Amino acid sequence: MREQTRYPVAIVGAGPGDPELLTVKALRLLGDADAVVYDRLVSAEVRALIPAGAMQVFVGKASNCHPTPQDEINDLIVRLARGGRRVVRLKGGDPFVFGRGSEEAEHLALHGVAFEVVPGITAASGCASAAGIPLTHRGLATGVRFVTGHRSHDGDLDLNWSSLADPETTLVVYMGLANLPTIRDRLIEAGLPAETPAAAIACGTTPDERICGGMLADLPELALAEGLKAPVLLVIGRVVALAETWGSVGRLPADVVRIRELVAEHG
Ligand SMILES: C[S@@+](CC[C@H](N)C(=O)[O-])C[C@H]1O[C@@H](n2cnc3c(N)ncnc32)[C@H](O)[C@@H]1O
Repeated sequence: MREQTRYPVAIVGAGPGDPELLTVKALRLLGDADAVVYDRLVSAEVRALIPAGAMQVFVGKASNCHPTPQDEINDLIVRLARGGRRVVRLKGGDPFVFGRGSEEAEHLALHGVAFEVVPGITAASGCASAAGIPLTHRGLATGVRFVTGHRSHDGDLDLNWSSLADPETTLVVYMGLANLPTIRDRLIEAGLPAETPAAAIACGTTPDERICGGMLADLPELALAEGLKAPVLLVIGRVVALAETWGSVGRLPADVVRIRELVAEHG
């Protein structure tokens, strides 16, 4: 049974970075918070909305430092809630998409602490739409898949490449920058055309946003040449050809024109 802490813990999604992409509910809860526990991915612009008097605890990974262990984060949230504070656990994007928010919810439930979950705009939809890339589009993509490009503890990138190499489905890879050459190679080996349009979006929706796009075959080199730094989201699929953001059609795949014609045909 859930304990009667004075206030339920709010596990809140902060969206991809632009503070105007916060939900109205997230903004209200932040304004009322007296303790905010936040990750590295929460942008400075969103943190600026935390009330001056509220306690702020950073639990992300700073450069050259290890992240705060998940057990410590879990215990801290329980302790703060039991201390009678209005706790906001603020996480980048949506708390339940590759964010360990569900593990924190599980821990609160196990310890009988009441909580609510406030969805946020996940990086896939936030960064892609803001960059002019529709994740689905009639005639180009019938669906979309979100996967992580982060290696597991045993160093394996354990993905079902043959199911991911589907030209009808947009593929969004979170945490894929470090393994981008492997991701490119495996997808092409599994049958995805090397000229599939692809983009890498760094720090999407923030003042530091940078985007590069081209053919899947060239994406690792393009990202390297642009000097993209985490957080980076990869979007792979024909829909990328619809983006106008980088304007220079010369850098887009040769078959972009064909894709545009296809779209025109489908009205
Ligand atoms: C640990 S996951 C957290 C995802 C988050 N919960 C969400 O729903 O967006 C971190 C990854 O999300 C992606 N990401 C999050 N925010 C981003 C942004 N503003 N620009 C680009 N990628 C972003 C990157 O792939 C990054 O490595």
